[in-house]
Amino acid sequence: MKAKNIVGIILIVVILFLLFLVLSQESSKKVEVVEKVEEKVSKVEPKLEKSEEEKYLEDLKKQAGAKTDYEVSKYYKTACSSCHGKSGEGTKVAPSIAGKSYEYIVEKLDDYKNDRVVNSLMKGLLNNTSDEDLKILAKEIANFK
Ligand code: HEC
Repeated sequence: MKAKNIVGIILIVVILFLLFLVLSQESSKKVEVVEKVEEKVSKVEPKLEKSEEEKYLEDLKKQAGAKTDYEVSKYYKTACSSCHGKSGEGTKVAPSIAGKSYEYIVEKLDDYKNDRVVNSLMKGLLNNTSDEDLKILAKEIANFK
């Protein structure tokens, strides 16, 4: 009886030891998998950034290649031209702003910025634009004929 008990205990210890081995291997496998996934993610991310950047550059090239009558500032190009056209000629979305005087444009922009004329499209844009920049922009637009 005693010998059997001892053998039983030894067996249990061995089984527990094997279980422990298996479990610890499993968890180290899991860690490996997590590391691999992280590696893949970090490999993929820079690629995404690059293609975004490439798209942006392509867009810029297209814009640069498009025929314009005027040298427009980068700010006008990025902030205004999508709605008002390459040189203020207007689009389906927004009216023409070419051929207007400097004073008129400054006044209009100020109206939008300060809610005297309510227009959510223009207001959202102008919220982050300083009065100085508005004047510079207005000067530029006043040259559009
Ligand atoms: C998202 C589209 C959009 C963008 C971008 C945009 N505008 Fe406008 N803008 C409009 C719309 C629409 C109106 C007409 C609003 C109205 O009728 O009150 C307008 C009106 C104007 C007017 C008044 C025109 C007039 O004769 O009454 C001026 C000036 C103007 N925008 C300048 C700008 C400038 C400068 C920028 C760049 C900082 C700009 N807009 C960017 C949509 C846009």
